[in-house]
Amino acid sequence: MTNHSKCLRWGTASCPHVVRAPTVISMVGLPARGKTYIAKKLTRYLNWIGVTTKAFNVGEYRRAATDSYKNHNFFRADNKEAQELRTRVALMAVDDACKFLSTGGEVAVIDATNTTMDRRRLLVDICTVKYQFKLFFVESICDDPNIIQGNILASILSEVKVCSPDYVGQDKNEAVKDFLQRIEHYRQTYEPMGSPAERDMSYIQIFNQGERFIVNKLAGHLQSRVVYYLMNIHVLPRTIYLTRHGESKMNQDGRIGGDSDLSERGWQYAEALGKFVEEENIQELKVWTSELKRTIQTARYISAPKEHWKALNEIDAGVCEGMTYEEIQEKYPEEFALRDQDKFHYRYPSGESYQDLVARLEPVILELERQENVMVICHQAVARCLLAYFQDKSAADLPYLKVPLHTVIKLTPVAYGCRVEFLALNIPAVNTHREKPEEQIVKRELYREFHDCSLKKWQLTYSTKPSKASCGLPGLPPR
Ligand code: ADP
Ligand code: F6P
Ligand code: PEP
Repeated sequence: MTNHSKCLRWGTASCPHVVRAPTVISMVGLPARGKTYIAKKLTRYLNWIGVTTKAFNVGEYRRAATDSYKNHNFFRADNKEAQELRTRVALMAVDDACKFLSTGGEVAVIDATNTTMDRRRLLVDICTVKYQFKLFFVESICDDPNIIQGNILASILSEVKVCSPDYVGQDKNEAVKDFLQRIEHYRQTYEPMGSPAERDMSYIQIFNQGERFIVNKLAGHLQSRVVYYLMNIHVLPRTIYLTRHGESKMNQDGRIGGDSDLSERGWQYAEALGKFVEEENIQELKVWTSELKRTIQTARYISAPKEHWKALNEIDAGVCEGMTYEEIQEKYPEEFALRDQDKFHYRYPSGESYQDLVARLEPVILELERQENVMVICHQAVARCLLAYFQDKSAADLPYLKVPLHTVIKLTPVAYGCRVEFLALNIPAVNTHREKPEEQIVKRELYREFHDCSLKKWQLTYSTKPSKASCGLPGLPPR
């Protein structure tokens, strides 16, 4: 594609000023400055808000192109051969990133050190001059020895085990020693951003894990959102507890939406949740609920400050509010079928879609990022959206995530992601999860197969002998 045709594709004749040009976000910084952490987290966030994003880690390209890592000498500034190889693998990553952006990708994150002006110039030449993409640098700078020490350990160790692919199987102390020497090699040629030669570039510098920021020449809405996000995240250890409200009276009737009270079992869950919080002994816990009665009632027995967010209210099912799925299927068969075809984008008449919900929940996510220990008491669709953010789930999977009633989902940040634990509090409740239609079809096919072919086949698949009276197939869908 020529530059000219690319400019037309992005909707303006003047390339440097295009509004929706794909963007390359390039990390900058010495090793152990949180670049991979930021690259992965930012990628997860951008995908969640609907911006197709992928991270390209140059370390992985290097490992694929070389024999196993020997020691820090590879990274010496005077190691010409290794320097050439490093430039080559960096170019391979940038090339793949540009291909990704030329085929529908919107943001590519280059996760590399990019600590020299030469390397950054190369990125400018390829990304902006050749491809006409926007280029935004994110530099992480640390001079606090405590942070650096902690990061070095976090970068190569997971709890007590050496986990960095460069140091797998090595002694912990040897690995740390080598990594420190590697950092020293980088330091010799490190040129932080901000010199007059780079004043025209768009970048953010993050000092000591967000203690201070410098933002230079922001170019457009996406970069502003990235900056806003980066200015709100923190790395303090904390836990987020996510739960739906206790079973409601409308849950029991199989009706969606509304603002009903808790059922008797729902109240039992509220009490159990109060006890659970007490036993967890959570420091400075804050409790957020929606503005609907069932979440506020569920928080009743928790002794912690509470806040009610309208943004946490359940998906608005519009004209279908208060109906059962069967009633919707009968009264609005086309709508019902449309929702099954693309549940994430489907918007109820006079109501909302999951996509709308994600947009409504973005401020909640940003505030959660700012906070420490929080318990969020919300609803099925809302909990799916929040969980998808933490678990990096796609828009297609999001509306089908399983979030059972009477279960606390404990989210704890670990390494580059978060540990997810489902803790059922053992109070019975109805199941409100409606399966993905393909899964129902598969089950129906298996059912037919069982009837048409042989019992043996079924037994091989499920090792379950069905009883004749009921056909005995677990979870069999109707029809
Ligand atoms: P790098 O990719 O720069 O080698 P890592 O991403 O492996 O570094 O570093 C991981 C550590 O960096 C994590 O312990 C994380 O808490 C920490 N970290 C995250 N964000 C920042 C930041 N803005 N500044 C410094 N350290 C950070
Ligand atoms: O059934 C409980 C409920 O929270 C409804 O209020 C809501 O419409 C529904 O779940 C969302 O789930 P789904 O998107 O699977 O219909
Ligand atoms: C690496 O090889 O691990 C790496 C980050 O590469 P570079 O410093 O060349 O960007």
